[in-house]
Amino acid sequence: MKVAFLGLGRMGAPMAAHVVRAGHDVTVWNRTSGKAGDLVELGATEARTVASAAAGAEVVVLMLFGPDAVRAVLEDVLDNAPGALVLDASTVGPDAAHEFAKASHARGLRYVDAPVAGSVKPATDGTLGVFLGGADADIAVARELALLWGDPDRVRHVGGVGSASALKLCVNQGLGIMAAGAGEALRLGRDLGIDQSVLLDVLSSTAYGWYLGQKRPMVEADDFAGTTFSVDLMAKDLELAVTSADSDLEVTRACLDQAKRTLAAGHSGEDYAAITGHLAGEGEANGH
Ligand SMILES: NC(=O)c1ccc[n+]([C@@H]2O[C@H](COP(=O)([O-])OP(=O)(O)OC[C@H]3O[C@@H](n4cnc5c(N)ncnc54)[C@H](OP(=O)(O)O)[C@@H]3O)[C@@H](O)[C@H]2O)c1
Repeated sequence: MKVAFLGLGRMGAPMAAHVVRAGHDVTVWNRTSGKAGDLVELGATEARTVASAAAGAEVVVLMLFGPDAVRAVLEDVLDNAPGALVLDASTVGPDAAHEFAKASHARGLRYVDAPVAGSVKPATDGTLGVFLGGADADIAVARELALLWGDPDRVRHVGGVGSASALKLCVNQGLGIMAAGAGEALRLGRDLGIDQSVLLDVLSSTAYGWYLGQKRPMVEADDFAGTTFSVDLMAKDLELAVTSADSDLEVTRACLDQAKRTLAAGHSGEDYAAITGHLAGEGEANGH
């Protein structure tokens, strides 16, 4: 297939590599240049513009920051890839997925939302979970691509357009709660005089175990520079969750506030575990 892959960030680059290795004719594009070197070595072509990347593509894969980033490229995709399938792997939320599907359909293209679960290592290993939202007729091609970066047991057609994006927000809501909750658990322990490493040992065998299994080294080192999933992305996803729900998600909103405070404290670009570190450290200066 002739595939355009737009967005070569932490996730996009390894996902695009699977598509190239599978032998497809792949053109890649990234807003900031200098990220396509490894992919070009593998056999991809680098385009300088969205329009030239999308030109004549049968499938246009998007792996961008969020809805605004997709809005920034979509028009040029729609103008240059007649009849193509837009496979949007970005986490954009259900409202934006519907908006992008409508725009695509109006111009004779097809749209499937295909957000992923799992981070950089599963993206590199080709073992991501992939949720597919779209019309039955579009799913065969979407699945063929998704299987290149997804675990066959975890590539799932959820329903119509938007359903996959809705499910993805539920997944990340849990991660946001976990990051914020772990931070307050650590602060509670500190306030009550419990040694942090004892506390981390014990919390690691509780509901926080999965999260601390990944993030404990960062939390203990108080160093969140080894980003896999950034605080910025977590804030975006919690905001999407809060604004997508019909009801007031008070707990999620509180976690969103903490993610924003973590960003304001200078942790932009760092791993979302910085939310835990930021919350754990609050009040320290007050002598606790
Ligand atoms: N990281 C994870 O663990 C993970 C897991 C599951 C899902 N996701 C989702 O996957 C998507 C990508 O995540 P990531 O970790 O790869 O993010 P990332 O490393 O921050 O990369 C973001 C990508 O979006 C591009 N971008 C941002 N704003 C743009 C704009 N206005 N116009 C065009 N391109 C723009 C960036 O281009 P530049 O290089 O020019 O900045 C970059 O290619 C996000 O929707 C995220 O929520 C991430």
